[in-house]
Amino acid sequence: MTPANNEIKRHDPSDIRIHWFNAACWLVLLVSGLGLIKNDKLNPLGAWLPDVLRALFGGGSAGGAVLLVLHEVVGVVWLVGIVIYMGVNAGGTRFFLREIFSLRPGDFTWMVRKMLRMTVGGGGELPPQGYYNMGQKAFAQASVLGGIAIGATGMILLASDKILPASVVWLVGWAVTLHYLAVGLVFAGLLVHIYMAAISPEEKPGFRSMFTGTVPRDYARHHHGLWVDALDKGEPGAK
Ligand code: HEM
Repeated sequence: MTPANNEIKRHDPSDIRIHWFNAACWLVLLVSGLGLIKNDKLNPLGAWLPDVLRALFGGGSAGGAVLLVLHEVVGVVWLVGIVIYMGVNAGGTRFFLREIFSLRPGDFTWMVRKMLRMTVGGGGELPPQGYYNMGQKAFAQASVLGGIAIGATGMILLASDKILPASVVWLVGWAVTLHYLAVGLVFAGLLVHIYMAAISPEEKPGFRSMFTGTVPRDYARHHHGLWVDALDKGEPGAK
């Protein structure tokens, strides 16, 4: 669909599909993962969630086994989905990784001023930002690096159930620890991401763009000035 005159394209349909696929997988993995921690000293939510979920899937240890299979299957589907997306939209993947890992002068100042604005007020003018602002970049970096750690340690845990010998118990111990830490890191960022993307009134056009693929030009100019400049100059690599 061609964007209306005052709208500019922000996401390909495949970007939108992978984003919501990723979010849906995260929801199921987070809830089922918390449900697997049947130790109320370790589970941040206590024993009620594991009990409710196990009851839902047949009760007792059989319910726990079904929950584990669900967690493993969705984990593998999630990784396969991401690999397929990287193949289908290799250009979009390269653009995304290049953008989120390139820091520009002004990004640090943007982050400090934005945090001041959102907490105590003031903070001064925000330096112009590119396709992603520094807050979006920080979360995207955490979700890419955290996602790699979660996927790799998840595969070790899956293999430990089926094929790994008992002699690599140390590896499994590290995998469990890193799996929890990486989920904790991404989840902390996710709370801010969901607030900024879906609740903060300023970002409503960005939220709509995750369904329509486009944003109003004025919004883009105000929030992502350097991106719009690059588009206007027809710079190679500007999406
Ligand atoms: C209810 C849940 C979620 C909502 C409402 C939401 C909303 C959004 C929105 C509106 C954007 C577009 C921002 C823009 O381009 O201006 C976005 C981008 C992004 N989101 Fe989410 N998100 C959710 C869950 C997640 C999850 C679970 C992850 C990963 C752990 C995630 C990772 C990302 C990343 C990496 C981007 C940048 C990628 C892109 O723009 O294509 N999101 N999200």
